[in-house]
Amino acid sequence: MSVPLPGEGPRAGQVRAMFDRVAPSYDLLNRVMSLRIDQAWRSRLLRELAPKQGEAMLDLCAGTMDVAAMARRRVPGLTIVGADFSFGMLSRGVRKTGLPAAQADALALPFQSRSFDLATVTFGMRNLDSWEAGLRELARALRPGARLGILEFFRPETAGTRVVHVAINKVMVPVMGRILSPDPAAYRYLVASMERFASRPEFEEGARRNGFRDVRGETLFPGMCGLVTAVRA
Ligand SMILES: C[S@@+](CC[C@H](N)C(=O)[O-])C[C@H]1O[C@@H](n2cnc3c(N)ncnc32)[C@H](O)[C@@H]1O
Repeated sequence: MSVPLPGEGPRAGQVRAMFDRVAPSYDLLNRVMSLRIDQAWRSRLLRELAPKQGEAMLDLCAGTMDVAAMARRRVPGLTIVGADFSFGMLSRGVRKTGLPAAQADALALPFQSRSFDLATVTFGMRNLDSWEAGLRELARALRPGARLGILEFFRPETAGTRVVHVAINKVMVPVMGRILSPDPAAYRYLVASMERFASRPEFEEGARRNGFRDVRGETLFPGMCGLVTAVRA
């Protein structure tokens, strides 16, 4: 079943159903397809945000809560809450981490304003009906001065990064998705949604427009993964 892409109108129901379908094989596929580089990216994100004992962290679009799990191992005294609208993904994350979590839409979070000292969103923003509305909702849930860290497959822009993107995402990912995934269409969506999403510079501008300052971006893997950090204004 094909899921509408970014910019193709409301699609939250179909995105949620897709993640419920891939949830049982999500962690394994992530590790195999990325050769565990995905964990190195999450580790880098947490190094940048430097969570501290006593702080409250939101892991939004938490999925199976890999970021939350890593943060808990590093900072045992950190309060961590996961949020995601897919019960299939989140229930696995709760079982894995033992951490609290809320089944919730990123565009209408069930948290009071200024509840968190930091937030992470890894590979989630691309899936929202409106990533700018997602940033505004994050800004609402974060206290002024709080840190935000995003990992995302931004749209590749330069000719060089497009070559890497095509080699990895158009050739390797679909083949591995066909072999390993119960839902190969989900892996076609991953690649197509990346091409329709914002480039990293566009996303950084969006963050400045929607409540954040000190926005910084970096390419972690050309043609694939970028990191953006920002401070709630
Ligand atoms: C690619 S997974 C990433 C999961 C995890 N953060 C990771 O690093 O592996 C994207 C997650 O975003 C969630 N998601 C997508 N749109 C959402 C929305 N509108 N509200 C809440 N969660 C959403 C999906 O259910 C899915 O679990």
